[in-house]
Amino acid sequence: MKLIQVRTFLTICISTAFLFAAITTEATSRHPVRGINGVVASSSYIASDVGVEIMRQGGNAVDAAIATAFAMAVTWPTAGNIGGGGFLIYHGANGEATAFDFREKAPKASTKTMYLDDEGNVKANSNHDGILAVGVPGTVAGLELAHQRLGSMPWADLLQPAIDLARNGMPISWNLHDSFKRLNEWWQLYPSSAKIFLRDDGSFYQPGDTWKQADLAATLGRIQEHGKDGFYKGETANLLANFMAANDGIITLDDLAQYEAKEREPIRGNYRGYQIVSMPPPSSGGTALVQMLNILEGFNLREIGHNSALYLHLLTESMRRAYADRAKHLGDLDFNERMPIADLISKKHAAKQRSTIVMHKASESDPARFAQPYESEETTHFSVVDKSGNMVSLTYTLEHGYGSKIVVDGAGFLLNNEMGDFNAQPGVTTESGTIGTRPNQIRPEQRMLSSMTPTIVAKNNIPLFATGTPGGRTIINTTMQTILNIIDFDMNIARAISAPRIHHQWLPNRTRMESGFFSADTIALYEQRGHIIDNSDSIGSAMAVYRNPETGVLSGAADPRAADGRVAAF
Ligand code: DON
Repeated sequence: MKLIQVRTFLTICISTAFLFAAITTEATSRHPVRGINGVVASSSYIASDVGVEIMRQGGNAVDAAIATAFAMAVTWPTAGNIGGGGFLIYHGANGEATAFDFREKAPKASTKTMYLDDEGNVKANSNHDGILAVGVPGTVAGLELAHQRLGSMPWADLLQPAIDLARNGMPISWNLHDSFKRLNEWWQLYPSSAKIFLRDDGSFYQPGDTWKQADLAATLGRIQEHGKDGFYKGETANLLANFMAANDGIITLDDLAQYEAKEREPIRGNYRGYQIVSMPPPSSGGTALVQMLNILEGFNLREIGHNSALYLHLLTESMRRAYADRAKHLGDLDFNERMPIADLISKKHAAKQRSTIVMHKASESDPARFAQPYESEETTHFSVVDKSGNMVSLTYTLEHGYGSKIVVDGAGFLLNNEMGDFNAQPGVTTESGTIGTRPNQIRPEQRMLSSMTPTIVAKNNIPLFATGTPGGRTIINTTMQTILNIIDFDMNIARAISAPRIHHQWLPNRTRMESGFFSADTIALYEQRGHIIDNSDSIGSAMAVYRNPETGVLSGAADPRAADGRVAAF
């Protein structure tokens, strides 16, 4: 088929996909959605359909993931992006596993103390708010690299659904309506963003409205035509660099032209005979995940009982230890050559840490060391499996919901505020939440430390399930609890991701717990051990796919916590 025919065909398929979706993708929170040829679980029902449609065309899991990611840059502006960054874990049915790092980088003009006033305090939250909070975006380079390595369909075909959605429009959901409205103060601050997120007359988009993004369609068109150069060079790069220059930003054409995504060796662990494949630095995710699983492997969790007080205690103590190590040691591998990753993920280190856990009493979290503030939960994760059993686990983000809230004028896409993930105050570490350790201080071109934990679990080196979630630092703990639910408690993936969960991150020394889901008896027994609870409405928004090793049947589950999330399968 000629390109133009493929495009027309895809357009028809995407429109009919909405119809299919209603029939084939409804899930309850306890039952995974099954398929034979391909499954996508994402936070955007439209994007899940796009991914499955690509597999219907003969694309593999990587093709579907790329198309889903570009579609989410249109349909899920909360976190779907081309102006941010993220990570992709791939595990082929043939046993090959690899990691793609497309994390944002600090611009060349950034400095260690760029956010500080004369007293050494962060000026007006400037590491999170405003144009200086923007890191050099990585998503387009990462998707292109994954495509070059493992894609099978023409690049242009993978962009087309996103372009169509941006150009022809998509329906505004209640959830989008709510969040566009909630952020109105920001739109009033940035006229280039108001043009996108408010109607022409300045009123709010209503549920059911068709939302068109012409500038974004044009930017995606340039990426379709020129690959990564359509973003990092030429018109898009000029629009971005000029916008920066006009608004006191520091990202230059040179920063953009020099950005490179990297393929990295994943973090690998072994938990009760299952292979864990997850993200290495600059994410802390894989390292902390494997470390916690190693500690917990020494306990008979099944016998202790799911979400019993003792179980929650052991989880908390494992979290406390891994997050302390995270704060102390982790940053961008390229700038911190001596990070003790091999030691942190070793069974020996886990055994040593396990031996310090007291069964009836919470340990101290020494506040004199390094504290870590809670983060909001606005990232997005999706998981894909294709008919051959290849899996992709992809988490990407703009950092906060809608990132910096700043749209590049004329280019139609949101910029991240990922610079906030660096330690902004070197050497300053307080219990109230500032962390100043060296590995994650700002250096030009360094990647900021992340918690994103896209993960694939395999049995006999054949992918069994892929999972991940948004949620700032809670990401690692949500992913771990999903894995325990499946391996230790035989839950199907839908139950595993919907089960109530907790989060502890060493400091602040408090346990965040999804309220209303743990019994008063359990809470009392847990608190008796000395733990302090913070109630939380919701932790994370996990998306998972699974392949039954006996039958080859595929399935997917979207977290019931996700307002617009859904599985598409065929
Ligand atoms: O990379 C990270 O770990 C964070 N920027 C992820 C952001 C997130 O989940 C939302 N919260 N801040």
